[in-house]
Amino acid sequence: MSPSVITIETKENISQNLIIQTPQAGFSLKGRIRVPGDKSISHRALMLGAMAHGVTQIQGLLLGEDPRSTASCFQAMGAEISELNTELVQVKGIGLGNLLEPPDVLNAGNSGTTLRLMLGFLASHAGRFFTVTGDSSLRSRPMSRVVKPLQQMGAQIWGRKEATLAPLAIQGQSLKPIHYNSPIASAQVKSCILLAGLSIEGKTTVTEPELSRDHSERMLRAFGAEVVVNPEINSVTLIGPAQLTGQKVIVPGDISSAAFWLVAGAIVPDSELVVENVGINPTRTGILEALAMMGADIQLENQREVAGEPVADLRVRSSRLQSCTISGDIIPRLIDEIPVLAVAAVFAEGTTTIRDATELRVKESDRITVTAQQLNKMGAKVNELPDGMEITGGTPLIGTDVDSHTDHRIAMSLAIAALNAHGTTTIHRAEAASVSYPAFTTTLQQVCG
Ligand code: S3P
Repeated sequence: MSPSVITIETKENISQNLIIQTPQAGFSLKGRIRVPGDKSISHRALMLGAMAHGVTQIQGLLLGEDPRSTASCFQAMGAEISELNTELVQVKGIGLGNLLEPPDVLNAGNSGTTLRLMLGFLASHAGRFFTVTGDSSLRSRPMSRVVKPLQQMGAQIWGRKEATLAPLAIQGQSLKPIHYNSPIASAQVKSCILLAGLSIEGKTTVTEPELSRDHSERMLRAFGAEVVVNPEINSVTLIGPAQLTGQKVIVPGDISSAAFWLVAGAIVPDSELVVENVGINPTRTGILEALAMMGADIQLENQREVAGEPVADLRVRSSRLQSCTISGDIIPRLIDEIPVLAVAAVFAEGTTTIRDATELRVKESDRITVTAQQLNKMGAKVNELPDGMEITGGTPLIGTDVDSHTDHRIAMSLAIAALNAHGTTTIHRAEAASVSYPAFTTTLQQVCG
């Protein structure tokens, strides 16, 4: 078997081109790999650790740019967080209501989770003033989804376009509890409101149209908050005020990062990969169900529970994929995996339809337009729909120049598509992957042998 050639070209010390050239024949992916810690759980462990009494110990933290943004924001407000590493991070919490007013703007970088969840804490710190911002992508993403419910709770928030866009300024207030019927299934919205409710007397409830990821609910309970879930109507109630106590958190591997290898293993002929220690929380496993519908051969091995989250090793073997329809309540359970699912669909027989995914338009990039444009440059047949995509599989991909649009998941999805393309693919601005998966290229080289 001749090896594939994977090269990284650094431009002006910042931007990186990832160049992928695979041999014509005899190329397959093999190995046992691990993916970095779950991004959603990493953010929450740092935040709840910072707001708890006592010490929180975090094992397996994601060392990506996004959790680094969370850590630096909370450090700027008084939490003591040891140097970030995967072995053990210690967070010395300051207790609810005790965030210090930072003398400078809090910068959430590229991270919507940092900004939106943090707003819940800031809005409820009466008498303190905060300013928050992010990079150009985050400054163009909608904040009204969290600003509106916080205003209903009594928050005072100012910003561009009637406080719908960051930078935002927040004058902390004593808030009142609400029952919020969220128009969208969003864990960031749900979590922001619940976190704002932590220091309020009474019941703060969020109801959502479909169930979104429930890591906040699980971790809030583990830290000592009273959380009541009504699964029949997708509602969560936090009974405040809460007292949070530092805990030991073990972060499982991120299924959103594992998704790249699951698709790679499924589409590259004769491949077999095992991705170890992946979180399989049922609110995140839509990708496994979608790939199963497409006929992918994925087995869950060594299933276990680690620190309140279900975990397994995932074995994938290549197989012939068929098209499927993905829509409705599965969408929030695989929302971040849709770009790489589109790559799987490009190599499946028939036309795959993805609907009810308008949310993709307000992620780190407009993931409907960018996924369609970039895969089409390689020869795919992806048709944009207002709320999704129609992907007709079966046309071979040809390597060419593509661009991440500085979106981590687009950069990595294009790299997976490149593994099954003829010729050389150059992914511009591939450094975006470091937001959630700094070692992506190293693992890519490892599995390509
Ligand atoms: C996240 C929730 C999701 C997801 C994001 C992480 C979280 O966003 O896309 O990557 O950690 O709460 P939405 O809540 O906007 O759907």
